[in-house]
Amino acid sequence: MPTICKVWFEHHKDRTIGIGVGRPRISWRFGGYDTGWVQHCYEIEVTREGGEVETHSKYSDISSLVPWPSSPLASGEKCAIRVRAWNQGSSDRTQWSDTATVEAGLLSHEDWKCSLIEPEDPYVRGPPHRPVVFRGEIALQKVFTSARLYITAHGLYAARINGTLIGDHVLAPGWTSYNHRLVYQTFDVTDVMKVGCNTIDVDVGEGWYCGRIGFLGGRNNIYGQSIGLIAQLIIRNEDGTKICTGTDDSWEWAYGPIIASGLYDGEHYDARQKISSETVWCTSRCLPLTDNLAAPEGPPVRRVMTIPPKQVIKSPSGKTILDFGQNIVGWVQATIHGPAGANIIFQYAEVLEDGECCIRPLRYAKAQDRLTLSSEETLVWEPQFTYHGFRYVQIDGSLGPIQKDDFKGVVIHSDMERLGHFHCSNELLNQLHQNIVWSLRGNFVSIPTDCPQRDERLGWTGDINIFSDTANYLYDTAGMISQWLEDLALEQGEQGTGIVPLVIPNVIEGFEKDAHAIWGDVAIMLPWSLYIAYGDSSILTRQYSSMKAWLASIPRKADNLWNYTSTWKLGDWLDPAAPPEDVGNGRTDPTLVADCFLVHVTSLMAAISTIIGAQEDARQYAKSASELHTVFSKEYITENGRLVADSQTALALAICFSLFQSEDQLKHAARRLSSIVIQSSRFKIATGFAGTPYITHALSDTGNENLAYRMLLHRKRPSWLYPITMGATTMWERWDAILPDGKVNHEGEMTSFNHYALGAVGNWMHRVILGLRPLEPGWRRFKIAPVPGGDLQWAEGSHVTSYGECYVKWAVKPSPSANAYQRFTISVRIPPNTSADVHLPGKKEVEFVQSGTYTWETDFMPDTWPPRAEESRFVHADDEL
Ligand code: BGC
Repeated sequence: MPTICKVWFEHHKDRTIGIGVGRPRISWRFGGYDTGWVQHCYEIEVTREGGEVETHSKYSDISSLVPWPSSPLASGEKCAIRVRAWNQGSSDRTQWSDTATVEAGLLSHEDWKCSLIEPEDPYVRGPPHRPVVFRGEIALQKVFTSARLYITAHGLYAARINGTLIGDHVLAPGWTSYNHRLVYQTFDVTDVMKVGCNTIDVDVGEGWYCGRIGFLGGRNNIYGQSIGLIAQLIIRNEDGTKICTGTDDSWEWAYGPIIASGLYDGEHYDARQKISSETVWCTSRCLPLTDNLAAPEGPPVRRVMTIPPKQVIKSPSGKTILDFGQNIVGWVQATIHGPAGANIIFQYAEVLEDGECCIRPLRYAKAQDRLTLSSEETLVWEPQFTYHGFRYVQIDGSLGPIQKDDFKGVVIHSDMERLGHFHCSNELLNQLHQNIVWSLRGNFVSIPTDCPQRDERLGWTGDINIFSDTANYLYDTAGMISQWLEDLALEQGEQGTGIVPLVIPNVIEGFEKDAHAIWGDVAIMLPWSLYIAYGDSSILTRQYSSMKAWLASIPRKADNLWNYTSTWKLGDWLDPAAPPEDVGNGRTDPTLVADCFLVHVTSLMAAISTIIGAQEDARQYAKSASELHTVFSKEYITENGRLVADSQTALALAICFSLFQSEDQLKHAARRLSSIVIQSSRFKIATGFAGTPYITHALSDTGNENLAYRMLLHRKRPSWLYPITMGATTMWERWDAILPDGKVNHEGEMTSFNHYALGAVGNWMHRVILGLRPLEPGWRRFKIAPVPGGDLQWAEGSHVTSYGECYVKWAVKPSPSANAYQRFTISVRIPPNTSADVHLPGKKEVEFVQSGTYTWETDFMPDTWPPRAEESRFVHADDEL
């Protein structure tokens, strides 16, 4: 009998306190792999706050996002849930799950009784804004049973009650489109409050709210002129009474030890200025709350792990540099002592050049923390309101010899549940996969960003659009990304044109006038990707107007294809053939790229409208998609199937988006693509942002898996493994961000060493090497169709779905029975309440299986490895594996 090993609410996988809806949907996951287990009926036991117990039973096979069965939760109301389920065709049932609790946040604006407080004018007016400490005193007379803190800030905050740090969040409240929605957090502070006088100290720094954001110097005060705090405490007394108190004119503020703190430039902490009895406190200014407070939909940013430095380096110029051995995102924690007034500067860098920290790729971000000591006392210190992307930290200043053990690299990211894994017999591929995972971690910091180190760290829409399928397999992105998509819809709405700004939150001016394919197509493709990964159709319903508005905003020619008039076209961004200073100017016509995506998203709209029940729209979009197919063909494809743009990207997009009109045309295109890959590209990558997610799929979908493997395993630039051979530990923005001579590629601006976009190939590793992919949204039914190839002896991986973990491991070895054949063995695990179609290599028949553990063996004839360019006398040294 399986167990119910996890119960959760909406997309919140951790402690559910302060949920923003009164009727949260419930999901449960099964543990164990009983054969053929299908849920037939479930029972949900709901224990309301007053102690009343309700049981709700239903004949249903649905175990994911089940509607709330009880009356809605009131603001602040807590409820306990247990679930059990019955197997189809038997009276066997699971044990009750462990109890999961859910507590509503403040569900209405009227529940907020406090004010916004700011430091009184004229003392604190940035930019830059020096962080301040707000202090409130709360006297409690009665014995209380619970205390909750609801808190957010104009800026970033860290709260302490009676000296105890509250919660484990960092960079709270996170970044949202603040003018529309400012997220607040809810904390259970019962254990840190006491009867008597309580002191709340809240540090607030400028953060995204009024700090400097954006490239070319950026902008300050984007959302407001001042940092500020909003905090409310609700205390329930034993006698049934309730106290509600919060930020008001009794709160004071003072400067604390943080002298400066900016997201890009870093933090300066002066321990001599710690809050003390000498501190001068000033009155705060009170302002009414605006109606934009919202509960979070995704997990907070947390310190997720710490890593020790691998070595301490002395650079050629005599600098002391910590090498963490891994490019990470977060900051350094130092245990330090030295004379009062001593200054220590931490300069963060992702790479070394000629043995020294290379900071040019950071552009206008200083990425420097500074610590001023107060006494000989040992201080354990880390910054509060900044973060950096780094592998190396140069330490300058008045310190004695550096002890490696006195430093830690603190890794932060939005604390999503890890869902997917991949391993295989090729260590370079394993490293590539690791690098993809690290770049995901480093760029899922409250919003999905492009990079974590330079003067951007922005929610570039195109980047997450091409990476989302990979991300959704590796981590549960549902909450965080749907929250970001909600902001996207709001900021798109603000434009009034339907055009999706290039970055969300939209903080760079002037980039929302022109529509851009791929970047704007995120409005349709990303909700779809989430729906397929997690099966939540409500995301389609919620984003539907945004999708429609985007499609309607695309400027068209008379034939309805793109009228891409913008002078700046992103196209197949970062095509390795594009000039370094003009990376949108690749070898594939940007309008053709845009049109491929146009046909694709129009077809998606037909499917989406059908799913959400908008039948008339569905008919219109299907008609429009079919007409676009025809005009695309007329414009770009010859009768035989030749595509006017003869590039990896163009062919890959046209194949993956089914743009050819006949099987013959498709075969012609597949032949042409393989010939380009073999003869012109010599198995190297020749795609940018647009083509990279599709090129290997286009090859394997048309019977050229061997070529896809050959490209994936190529080690010379441009290729996915070239950076690995150069020591990369995260994905690079540019295929050759470091040149073969070890120098940073200084020709262009785009040399981030932590950009997940080109890691979109992870999706091919999961879907084709492991062969795992959903057949129904949310993995209720899925496919296992591994394609062995390259020099791989085995591959293993898993994906934790809402139902349980899908697992696959395959291996090949020479077949004992037949010459040249290989014996393929596979073990799989299918979680309860799901089923899978299993395809074995070289076999036409499909095995249909329900939950359970299975193994199969078969012989198959592998492709010749490695494939070679036909005219071997022209083989280039780069062709060698
Ligand atoms: C970002 C990219 C982004 C691009 C588009 C860059 O600066 O880092 O990843 O998509 O701009 O213009």
